[in-house]
Amino acid sequence: MSDHIQIARHGAVQIIRMNRPDKKNALTRAMYATMTQAIVDGDADPAIRAHVFFGVPGAFSSGNDLQDFMAFVTTGNMGSEVIDFLVALASAKKPLVAGVDGLAIGIGSTIHFHCDLTFATPQSFFKTPFVDLGLVPEAGSSLLGPALMGHQRAFAFLAMGDGLNAVEAKEAGLVYKLVETEELENSVLKAATEIAAKPPQAMQLSRDLLRMPQDDIIERIKLEAKHFAERLQSAEARSALMAFLTRKKG
Ligand code: COA
Repeated sequence: MSDHIQIARHGAVQIIRMNRPDKKNALTRAMYATMTQAIVDGDADPAIRAHVFFGVPGAFSSGNDLQDFMAFVTTGNMGSEVIDFLVALASAKKPLVAGVDGLAIGIGSTIHFHCDLTFATPQSFFKTPFVDLGLVPEAGSSLLGPALMGHQRAFAFLAMGDGLNAVEAKEAGLVYKLVETEELENSVLKAATEIAAKPPQAMQLSRDLLRMPQDDIIERIKLEAKHFAERLQSAEARSALMAFLTRKKG
């Protein structure tokens, strides 16, 4: 269990809040493990009808903790927490709703390819610097990204690392609605509560019909993860990680 993930309930909605503000919600292995358990437990609990992801003001998430990536480079042990989380995300049985304010980097962006509704504030910013880090897209984004936004926008976002501001993310289909900061949590909880009030079996079936086959997504997540792990050992990735971890802050 990680103290940096807070689990709460709002009626039939489970709230999963990333809460590591001093590191802009960079995700550690323990945080992934806690979120995986929350999704699995919530899916198994008939009293829960939807999952919600929140970050903190100004930071939904700055992505995977880069210290953890560096630890993998030196120890060779990545653990299964990240992949377990990605598989849980792709396999979630109940709708996923997210509220973003501020930074949404790496998995902080790609998680929204799995969400059914994402609300974001105008100052939100989405970016996936995978290639600049010597890495490749993850979380099934190499499959879901082009399907959602077309090849060229997905290439710019996922391979070039071009960021999307809130308006662009909405135009690209990564965000459902833009809402003012003070309205964010209410808007998300209202939508999740509406989802939770619908007939659950019809909702689950409809959601499954609307989504790409789960097996295809999981297969892609595993393929990306294989490349990702290999890339983490590359000279390109080592030097990009070292540059971040040893940077001087002005
Ligand atoms: N992993 C580990 N630590 C991170 C982090 C990450 N992904 N993102 C931010 N942090 C840490 C910073 O090192 C800093 O820690 P410190 O105060 O102990 O030095 C703290 O969070 C605050 O970040 P800082 O860089 O000072 O804030 P900023 O507003 O200037 O910039 C970011 C925020 C997110 C743009 C910048 O930190 C960044 O580029 N992070 C890396 C993002 C990334 O590449 N993620 C992986 C994608 S696969």
